[in-house]
Amino acid sequence: MFCHAGAIDPKKAAGKVLVCLRGLNGGVEKGQQASLAGAVGMILANDIIADNEILVEAHVLPASNINYTDGLTVFTYINSTKNPTAYITPVTTQIGTKPAPFMAAFSSKGPNTITPEILKPDITAPGVSVIAAYTEAEGPTNEDFDKRRVQFNSLSGTSMSCPHVSGIVGLLKTLYPNWSPAAIKSAIMTSATTLDNLNEPILNASNIKAGPFSYGAGHVQPNLAMDPGLVYDLTPTDYLNFLCTLGYNETLISLFSKNTYKCPNPINLANFNYPSITIPNLVGPITVTRTVKNVGSPGTYRAKVMRPMGISIYVKPQKLKFEKAGEEKTFSVTLKVKNAQAIKEYVFGELIWSDNVHYVRSPIVVKAV
Ligand SMILES: *[C@@H]1O[C@H](CO)[C@@H](O)[C@H](O)[C@H]1NC(C)=O
Ligand SMILES: *[C@@H]1O[C@H](CO)[C@@H](O)[C@H](O)[C@H]1NC(C)=O
Ligand SMILES: *[C@@H]1O[C@H](CO)[C@@H](O)[C@H](O)[C@H]1NC(C)=O
Ligand SMILES: *[C@@H]1O[C@H](CO)[C@@H](O)[C@H](O)[C@H]1NC(C)=O
Repeated sequence: MFCHAGAIDPKKAAGKVLVCLRGLNGGVEKGQQASLAGAVGMILANDIIADNEILVEAHVLPASNINYTDGLTVFTYINSTKNPTAYITPVTTQIGTKPAPFMAAFSSKGPNTITPEILKPDITAPGVSVIAAYTEAEGPTNEDFDKRRVQFNSLSGTSMSCPHVSGIVGLLKTLYPNWSPAAIKSAIMTSATTLDNLNEPILNASNIKAGPFSYGAGHVQPNLAMDPGLVYDLTPTDYLNFLCTLGYNETLISLFSKNTYKCPNPINLANFNYPSITIPNLVGPITVTRTVKNVGSPGTYRAKVMRPMGISIYVKPQKLKFEKAGEEKTFSVTLKVKNAQAIKEYVFGELIWSDNVHYVRSPIVVKAV
């Protein structure tokens, strides 16, 4: 089933299309073993863990990767007949597949185990079967047996997703050389989308609605990040205070700061001016503050809240009027458990500041204890 080394009988495999199951060893390795055994092609069926996630790989023989449900159909067919038959047809390109994007099964997920008060991940970006320039120092599969050399390759992983965001950061820094890293991050996060190309909530690889612990603020939208309206900014001092909350002492903090820095006492991480709001242990009502800076034209922004289930949220003031660029306004958000029966699980909502042109969206993540 897994087509691993030593498991395939060449007498049975020669001239055949083999069906192999994902898992245990890599997909390319399965194809290599099939090929060594004389197979002419391979169908690589997903296991239930990979489910709907199809990753393009530079196979050494003609191969097709199918999802878990299609895999069951193939296995049922093989079981149903003495002489199952497979055909290899020419490759066609499909564009505009739906739904897209959806979360890859391998994508790392929250909650943040080190600092639960800060939502992680922040953002998601394309990371599955991404075609990009490739080194000719190794073969496209990075396997020793792969003597092929290619200028372009298709790869999947956070390593493909991250450079999309790095590139967007670079473009924004070019447009706005004076923006801080935090302002750029805010622009990228608050303009992200949680909808796919069917205008439905982004799903995970099992076709189940994903949430902030999968995609953070959502999927990047670079053109919107160029004009976020408002940003949640942070200064180096805010970051030093953050290190203080991690328990770093003066000696350690001096590694990050030119001047000696004395931690103020106490520091409330809930007020860290991040473009998301996370309360991992809501008991009594809690009020957090945030400050937004206008980086667009003058305008009036109104608050709109999607409440997490069982939680009431009050934003004060409800309206922020900006007369000029660079102006800052502070608001507070009060969160309260609505009834004692509130689910003691993470629940999700959002806060949107909008002037009807910009939609400055922040995820709200709460767990009542
Ligand atoms: C599996 O892939 C097929 C297309 O090959 C698609 O029609 C089907 O919806 C997919 N299964 C699921 C559960 O999405
Ligand atoms: C096909 O047959 C094998 C061997 O009897 C069995 O383990 C497997 O569950 C069957 N698969 C399906 C999809 O019916
Ligand atoms: C999709 O989300 C559901 C519910 O959170 C989870 O049980 C499932 O494992 C997720 N699937 C993948 C592939 O991450
Ligand atoms: C600061 O913390 C480091 C690492 O825990 C420790 O080695 C060092 O002795 C501490 N310094 C002071 C002044 O407490």
